[in-house]
Amino acid sequence: MGLKLGVNIDHVATLRQARYASMPDWPGAEPVLLEAANAALRGGADSITIHLREDRRHIQDRDVGVIREGAACPLNLEMGNTAEILEIAVRWKPDFVCLVPENRAEVTTEGGLDVAGQAEELRPTVARLRDCGILVSLFIDPEIEQVRASREIGGDIVELHTGAYAQASVGARETEISRLRAAAIEAQAVGLQVNAGHGITTGNVRGLFSVPHLIEFNIGHHLVSRALLIGLEQAVREMMEVMREYSGD
Ligand code: PXP
Repeated sequence: MGLKLGVNIDHVATLRQARYASMPDWPGAEPVLLEAANAALRGGADSITIHLREDRRHIQDRDVGVIREGAACPLNLEMGNTAEILEIAVRWKPDFVCLVPENRAEVTTEGGLDVAGQAEELRPTVARLRDCGILVSLFIDPEIEQVRASREIGGDIVELHTGAYAQASVGARETEISRLRAAAIEAQAVGLQVNAGHGITTGNVRGLFSVPHLIEFNIGHHLVSRALLIGLEQAVREMMEVMREYSGD
């Protein structure tokens, strides 16, 4: 089975909020999130990802239900470990929750979650989500300690942070790939599904193909950026075409 693609549509909401922050539900507010989700699915996306941030800078509460009920695909909800967002996740029961670190000042999710350091706070959240039938993913830096801690607190999946790889100079890329490879091998060995995401583009994705055991990529900014020029359906198609080259080992 080929590598799957989860399309993160947060930045479709970013554009809507730029104009309609005070009235995101107004019928004329555009772009319409569900239309974007459907375009991504027509292009071949396997799932849709949204991040309901505590500061609500892009995705709004109502969007979660609209996408959950309207998009005919698995939904991956990214969230920080807060009681408020946990209740929303429990209400809508996405197929997957990806727990991420959240910091109000950051432009995007900057580093991985410190699962090893926050195991006690994360454990009850993971248990509650899993009790609802939601598969839990932990967004972590590619470090063995974080992989093991993700398993230890009851996670199902790790999403390996590829941001350092994406931003590395050409000379430093091999080091980042080695870290990703080691983390993926460890994750598979302890029984975790391996996903990856952050900063992936059609220009750098092939470099990740030497990382084994990958099941799904989560990609947002690049696809939404390409969508401005060629449309989201085509941008997803373009990415899927490259991803088909991945052999899994
Ligand atoms: N995975 C996680 C956990 C993220 O927080 C993000 C960014 O929202 C992504 C993947 C997608 O990253 P990008 O927008 O750089 O493709």
